[in-house]
Amino acid sequence: MSTLPPDGSGPAGSPFVRACRRLPVPHTPVWFMRQAGRSLPEYRALRGDGSILAAIADPALAAEATLQPVRRYGVDAAILFSDIVVPVEAVGFGVDVVPGRGPVVERPFRSADDLARLRPLEPEVDAPYVAEAVRLAVAELAPSGVPLIGFAGAPFTVASYLVEGGPSRTFTRVKSLMHAEPDLWRALLDRLAAMAVAFLSAQVAAGAAAVQLFDSWAGWLAPYEYEQWVLPATRQVLAAAAALGVPTILFGVGTGELLGLMGTSGADVVGVDWRVPLDRARARVGVGRAVQGNLDPSLCLGPWPVTAAAARRVLDEAGTEPGHVFNLGHGVLPETDPGILAELVSLVHAEGRAGVTGADRAPVAG
Ligand code: CP3
Repeated sequence: MSTLPPDGSGPAGSPFVRACRRLPVPHTPVWFMRQAGRSLPEYRALRGDGSILAAIADPALAAEATLQPVRRYGVDAAILFSDIVVPVEAVGFGVDVVPGRGPVVERPFRSADDLARLRPLEPEVDAPYVAEAVRLAVAELAPSGVPLIGFAGAPFTVASYLVEGGPSRTFTRVKSLMHAEPDLWRALLDRLAAMAVAFLSAQVAAGAAAVQLFDSWAGWLAPYEYEQWVLPATRQVLAAAAALGVPTILFGVGTGELLGLMGTSGADVVGVDWRVPLDRARARVGVGRAVQGNLDPSLCLGPWPVTAAAARRVLDEAGTEPGHVFNLGHGVLPETDPGILAELVSLVHAEGRAGVTGADRAPVAG
């Protein structure tokens, strides 16, 4: 196993944080959503068969799972090993994460009575293991200067699990709630926004150098629904996170028609899935925002020439203006060969041009 990549400039001066802030970088930074997970044999060995929520509640295990992909791939950022349902589980809402399925809720959110089951999160009391895992991981990362990304689920995406009771393809109940009971919907999103702020603040206080808000399923909404019933709570969370002094990233899947609105969310970086080429995404999110993405995770299954060609297309579409963090368009698929992701990191470091000093003298090949 290789050692952590040397850097020396510290998290705040790292290529990742600089790219989030649209500053020039020595190379295009890259990390992968779901980089800590089942595609890594060392993760499967570390995890064993217990529940993922129990693994997350073990700070030494969570810190180790956070560091594994940094060692293996040489990525430019670590992301905390945790989950978007940790805060609601920690206040006793009754959530389990079922392997192969995702979060499942014992008693779904159905009426104003259920608001009482969503009391405010006190991170140091309800989930002290989160800050402890961050501290352990950050201490190990310190010599390399590799930043740790903290994260939370955005209010809409967490609400979708609470209201639907589990993963959904149609989001019928959650849409019905927002249209039919807008006051209750706003009250629910307010609670979840406050919990996300508390969760992110604890991670930043413990040493996280950036935060990502996962609004994975926002793309199932029409722009007017997103703007009216989701964006205000999202803005609240991002403003509170920005006040902590770290860059903020907002990500969702299938958000092509929402990118303009996401560009007004206050996020420094807007995550983009593989459906929208990054040059178009940049135009949609507007000036003053960086973009993150957007290689199709399916194309990381290889063979390597397929992955390499698709990665070069992403780098090409990212252009030469500062403000590109290379990532996949969604999470790493469990069947991905870790060797391909390691090669991908090398390719991005060698060939990325967005904001890279001297980029104009060395155009992207192929
Ligand atoms: O490497 C990382 O990205 C950090 C860890 C991380 C996990 N979940 C660990 C995890 C992160 C950032 C998340 C966020 C998360 N969790 C999201 C947003 C990201 C996205 O994919 O859109 C969502 C929607 C969840 C809810 C959730 N948790 C799902 C849908 C699943 C998958 C269920 C399955 O088995 O397919 C989980 C479980 C989960 N969270 C796993 C991991 C590594 C896999 C199961 C395991 O290892 O036990």
